[in-house]
Amino acid sequence: MTFLSATLDRVKPSPTIAVTNKAADLKAAGHDVIGLGAGEPDFDTPQSIKDAAVVAIALGKTKYTAVDGIAELKQAIVAKLKRDNGLDYTAAQVTVGTGGKQVLYNALIATMNPGDEVIVPAPYWVSYPDMVLLAGGTPVTVPCGIESAFKMTAEQLEAAITPKTKWLIFNSPSNPTGAGYDREELKALTDVLMRHPHVWVLADDMYEHLAYDGFKFCTPAEVEPGLYDRTLTVNGVSKAYAMTGWRIGYAAGPEMLIKAMRKVQSQSTSNPCSISQWAAVEALNGPQDFLVPNNEKFVRRRNIVVEMLNAIEGMECPVPEGAFYVYPSIKGLIGKTTPNGVKIENDEIFATALLEDAGVAVVFGAAFGVSPNFRVSYATSDDALTEACKRIQTFCAGLV
Ligand SMILES: Cc1ncc(COP(=O)(O)O)c(C=O)c1O
Repeated sequence: MTFLSATLDRVKPSPTIAVTNKAADLKAAGHDVIGLGAGEPDFDTPQSIKDAAVVAIALGKTKYTAVDGIAELKQAIVAKLKRDNGLDYTAAQVTVGTGGKQVLYNALIATMNPGDEVIVPAPYWVSYPDMVLLAGGTPVTVPCGIESAFKMTAEQLEAAITPKTKWLIFNSPSNPTGAGYDREELKALTDVLMRHPHVWVLADDMYEHLAYDGFKFCTPAEVEPGLYDRTLTVNGVSKAYAMTGWRIGYAAGPEMLIKAMRKVQSQSTSNPCSISQWAAVEALNGPQDFLVPNNEKFVRRRNIVVEMLNAIEGMECPVPEGAFYVYPSIKGLIGKTTPNGVKIENDEIFATALLEDAGVAVVFGAAFGVSPNFRVSYATSDDALTEACKRIQTFCAGLV
């Protein structure tokens, strides 16, 4: 008999957190490392949101709250879903958790039975397949390569659905590619789902507000109202409001599912931090004016990175619609050798050599299910990005 759970053997630790930690360790040891691995904005949380948290502390809002969120926050979420997405929900259809991550996990724990399949288009956010495995389900990944701009087609979705499919996890704009589905592309997928009434949609809208060049964000329940009764719309304040450390995420969906998710949370963490909840009320109800200048910065940074990476022979970097990631292909560099004699056989070797030889931390594509690629998070300063891309250029020019 082993002490540790056999379920844990099926999952791996988050590779993005591992890269971030490795880069931090190297930095702490005095190495000159530029980290392009972290999935969080470098902006500070807006002052009005911080102020709301200070007020909450002063007013003694420091006790347990209702398990899945205070009424004021649920009301702010109801209003947000109506305002931004044209979706009608009641507070009873809303749940709040410790980050979008917990909300997604609750949904899977609440619904997975052995044999249940979850369709996960790849490249995927690293946690989806492992969360499905932890919950006892089976992830069915669908590779969506650079040739389809990393997006799943209706044919691919149709082919992946079986009688055992319970969920499709849909994420747009995407981590790790930044790819966003426009209304027509999403409608093609929801049309398929309308023909398969046993399949539910887990819509991860975490990067909703980070959309560029006029790209119009849309979400499945809005594009196809016929899916309303089998969609869980997940979102949070981490990315758009630069609140990753505050840990507030939320979801809206059928009450029966929300109740089941609350049950999971009631026996694990109980309520998300009371003070963070009050800060999130301000984030959703307060002024949204910082979103535009923040996005302008992100677009400028995206353009710097795309241009500099596309100047590298053997690399191809598509221009994404949103989020703060690019996902270049290194197909043309596979098989080359570094000056230290390391053969670039895959993207993991590439990323390791890039970190060790050039001091740039990126996450290798295999972690996200599509290779040979790597993910750059451009949520850092223009200067750091320019320097990092110069180093990547020099590193690649040195490959023979
Ligand atoms: C696609 C996606 N979904 C969900 C999350 C979870 O965000 P949080 O738990 O910070 O709300 C992340 C964070 O990286 C993400 O990239």
